[in-house]
Amino acid sequence: MLVGRKTKFLCIGICTLGLASSIAVASLSGSLSESAIAERLKPVGKVNIIGVDPNAAADVVAGVGGPEKIYADNCKMCHQNGLAGAPRMGVKGDWTAREQQGLDTLVKNAWVGIRGMPPKGNCLKCSEDDIRNTVIYMLDQLK
Ligand code: HEC
Repeated sequence: MLVGRKTKFLCIGICTLGLASSIAVASLSGSLSESAIAERLKPVGKVNIIGVDPNAAADVVAGVGGPEKIYADNCKMCHQNGLAGAPRMGVKGDWTAREQQGLDTLVKNAWVGIRGMPPKGNCLKCSEDDIRNTVIYMLDQLK
């Protein structure tokens, strides 16, 4: 009888502890995602305020950076892991059939958009040359 009561008491103790810790985890993950959001917003602020590498003349003129930066800022989110069926960066097989269309068609499709590919890859400040150079940069990574 005494053992039975003890066991019950123990259970209440453990269950309360379990509830308390799950609340703690919930509130912790809340603050984590807030800081994750802040982290995500950061680069946007950096781009607007500092924005450019003072050593790169092209950056100053275009304000969007060279192909590597344009890729990282605009294209990577889809092309790194093939989001929405995007041909993946550095994965030759994803590009073989597309490359056969020729560079001009690839650039044009990237410029006007094609199916899941938004116009200019969402780089609204990019000129057609910026897009062309970024496509060339992406194709170069296949070699
Ligand atoms: C929102 C996701 C997304 C972003 C951002 C994005 N792409 Fe794409 N891209 C796609 C998808 C999806 C396809 C495949 C479209 C299809 O053929 O169905 C694609 C296809 C392409 C192609 C091949 C076009 C063809 O004719 O086969 C090129 C080149 C390309 N993207 C370049 C870029 C460049 C350069 C950027 C950045 C400036 C960029 N993409 C940003 C999703 C994206």
